[in-house]
Amino acid sequence: MTETGKPLLRALAGDCLSRPPWWLMRQAGRYLPEYRDIRARAGDFVALCLNPVLAAEVTLQPVRRFGMDAAILFSDILLLPYALGQRLEFAGDGPVLDRIESGGGLARLRPSSAIAGLEPVFETIRRVREGLGPETALIGFAGAPWTVATYMVEGGTSRDFRRVKTWAYRDPAGFAALVEIIVAGTVQLLSAQIDAGAEVVQLFDSWAGVLPEREFRHWVIEPTRRIVTALKAAYPACPVIGFPRGAGPMYEAYAPATGVDAVGLDTVVPAGFVRERLQSRLPVQGNLDPVLLLIGGDALTEAVAAIRRSFGDRPHVFNLGHGVLPETPPENVALLARLLAEPLSS
Ligand code: CP3
Repeated sequence: MTETGKPLLRALAGDCLSRPPWWLMRQAGRYLPEYRDIRARAGDFVALCLNPVLAAEVTLQPVRRFGMDAAILFSDILLLPYALGQRLEFAGDGPVLDRIESGGGLARLRPSSAIAGLEPVFETIRRVREGLGPETALIGFAGAPWTVATYMVEGGTSRDFRRVKTWAYRDPAGFAALVEIIVAGTVQLLSAQIDAGAEVVQLFDSWAGVLPEREFRHWVIEPTRRIVTALKAAYPACPVIGFPRGAGPMYEAYAPATGVDAVGLDTVVPAGFVRERLQSRLPVQGNLDPVLLLIGGDALTEAVAAIRRSFGDRPHVFNLGHGVLPETPPENVALLARLLAEPLSS
């Protein structure tokens, strides 16, 4: 596999390639007119995620247009709470869930049947695999337990995480029971994704950066470690990428303690720290500022070269530090594709 395998899998296995394999978080989405067309046809967002024909099409759209080295399953981290029995709507500005309260709230969830409700997602994976070329990998994903718990307890995106932190600080045993349900559901969800054909999985911990050290170890590292351990026991060959956004200096503890194969870098983690403390041990992925992709031009060209100079002499997967912004002109993604196709000039 090494010389001829899929570039993404080679980089995640520790090969250093002359041009980095690339994909973009949120590469399918509103910046693409062909996505907006299908989104309008599907009705609501959850219906789109659960329609294998349309979800597979939307997954393939950016790969067809720009030739990324990977497709990422079109789905959402909030489909797990949805499958656990929470109401989920995307109204205007973001997700809305009926909040789980500390105390008796867990009784509302139905963990045992969760994965059954997501069968259309696994069908999407099978369809995407059929539509991908031999060099392109398929990435499955889930939210990491802390981030998923924030949405379940806050009922949406939060400014200060007051409710979820209050629960975790006041009643750690009760909160651990919620995290346990999410861990078990995530292992089932990712296992089913791998069975259906996902070749890599990523754990999105978008809100890892809001916890103090002790809680970071407890609610970010520990549940992630348990998921990775369970997946490695069943699927030793499937690489796991962890993305603890905003972890700052805690990235250094996260990488070895969780057992992930690679870490996703957010936009602000310093390159020197990454090289010394992370990339010396494992492949890294990232970390272009999505705003540079939005503005394009020389600023984009220079930033891409700088990231390649920083990380290009060791295993590296090129990506953004967070998702593509909906206002991004598709031409800028096409420019990025051209830049990454060239060898780096010194
Ligand atoms: O990356 C991809 O192209 C694959 C699909 C994907 C989506 N969401 C589709 C989506 C992935 C990997 C996600 C992950 C996700 N979802 C995260 C982790 C990454 C991150 O952004 O921090 C989070 C926190 C969510 C939860 C979520 N889903 C929010 C907060 C929102 C609303 C904000 C927004 O951008 O609208 C969503 C909606 C969502 N998920 C959209 C897409 C394409 C937009 C929905 C639409 O078309 O109206």
